[in-house]
Amino acid sequence: MSLELRGITKSFGALVANDNIDLKVATGEIHAILGENGAGKSTLMNIVYGLLEADKGEVLVDEKVQSIKEPSDALAAGIGMVHQHFMLIPVFSVAENIVLGHEKTGVVGKLDLATAKQEIKRVSDEFKFDVDPDAIVEELPVGVQQRVEIIRALIYDAKVLILDEPTAVLTPQETDELLEIMKQLKAKGTSIIFITHKLREVKAVADRITIIRRGKVVGTAEPTASQGELASLMVGRPVDLNPDRSSHPIGDVVLTVSNLHVEDETGRELVKNINFEVKAGEVLAIAGVQGNGQSELARAMVNLEPHVKGSIKIERDEVLGLSVRESLHQGIAFVPESRELDGLVGSLSIAENLILDLHDMAPYAKGIQMNPAIVASEAEKKSVEFDIRMQSVQDPVSSLSGGNKQKVVLARELSRPVRLLVASQPTRGLDVGSIEFVHERILAERDAGRAVLLFSTELDEVLALADRIAVMYRGEIIKIVPSTVTAQELGLLMAGVVNA
Ligand SMILES: Nc1ncnc2c1ncn2[C@@H]1O[C@H](COP(=O)(O)OP(=O)(O)O)[C@@H](O)[C@H]1O
Ligand SMILES: [Mg+2]
Repeated sequence: MSLELRGITKSFGALVANDNIDLKVATGEIHAILGENGAGKSTLMNIVYGLLEADKGEVLVDEKVQSIKEPSDALAAGIGMVHQHFMLIPVFSVAENIVLGHEKTGVVGKLDLATAKQEIKRVSDEFKFDVDPDAIVEELPVGVQQRVEIIRALIYDAKVLILDEPTAVLTPQETDELLEIMKQLKAKGTSIIFITHKLREVKAVADRITIIRRGKVVGTAEPTASQGELASLMVGRPVDLNPDRSSHPIGDVVLTVSNLHVEDETGRELVKNINFEVKAGEVLAIAGVQGNGQSELARAMVNLEPHVKGSIKIERDEVLGLSVRESLHQGIAFVPESRELDGLVGSLSIAENLILDLHDMAPYAKGIQMNPAIVASEAEKKSVEFDIRMQSVQDPVSSLSGGNKQKVVLARELSRPVRLLVASQPTRGLDVGSIEFVHERILAERDAGRAVLLFSTELDEVLALADRIAVMYRGEIIKIVPSTVTAQELGLLMAGVVNA
């Protein structure tokens, strides 16, 4: 089944999220839609699936114009969609969810539980999905929950399947499995629209690529295009995706973490017996699948976790047990995982956020009085140095995009004297242009002789930046490997497989 979009236009107030978009997806094709955050990808797909109504434009299936007003119309026309945030009910079984989805979407014909189970089994066997119809959804790994949504679309006989950033929530292994599933579906004639901003995935499976920037189609590309070419099309300027990996001098030990344990309120151990060192001019990455204790370990580095035992030394100074503020003034720059929660005060201005923990010191203040003119002029300087795109430094920091918020955090944290940079998921949710900037800044710190401790769940990021990689699994560091490790080996370690 082929799908064609003609002149799709959709505005939200003054913002044109989709501007006259044309797109053709051929039968049995994997068509990737590549674009930065906010480019308008989800809006476009929500229109195709009947969750949003376009202001203008047409959706054609097999060259016939469709009237799609709600998801049941889309399903009836053979279009299925798997959302980034699954729409499953966690406490119900797989089969119950599929029957419920059926009722909600109002597709004609009744699906009873017994039939649903048979259908799930049929589809699951056909594609080797290995999904048990009686399993409770919340007990399934995320990758399997996603397959349940795919099964649901297939049971409804979807011939065009829309996957909106399906790999954002998956482990590297689960991602590989999904890419395989996509190839299988394609082999059986299903057309797939694959939305992502991960270039490697696009190159691995896409037959054709359409690039969207600021609501417009800015080009199409073949999967043979280089990652650099694709990134440049996405961002609209040349992008260098290969940060400088040239050899750099590594100095003395800056950070020594010994016998570190972190417990939660109930005394459960989230981080167990952690030992490592990071040297001046070195990037140690802590890799792992989300939820294996990395967040707690990162927070423990600046005393944000209440129940910690062991030792954290910066050069000879023990920092464990200090206040957060004292830790920062020991020369730790901290880029928190949640910049909204721990990194910024949304209601304060960009200028104020740039000096959050320096506000009572010279040159910003005299006594307890803050000097707004100096705060503003320093903020102007920082916003140029860190390429913060904004209207005015007096605007609330909450008005910035994710990438620009992260630049504010970096600009502030790197303005104090730094011995150690702790960066936790520093590029999560950022667009390619901002990722490139953040990576450059991290490597600039490395080259200036700081020790860098990078927490990241992104394989590509870890491999691009790290000198050594420590893999965390279930609260422990199960292995520390050199950066010459392959993505495959690293993926296995992240899944807890030490001796593959
Ligand atoms: N319901 C909405 N109301 C207002 N603005 C929206 C709404 N949905 C999306 N937008 C805006 O439209 C633009 C495109 O968003 P989206 O389609 O989600 O982008 P993408 O999926 O490519 O990241 C963004 O600027 C976003 O903030
Ligand atoms: Mg989206």
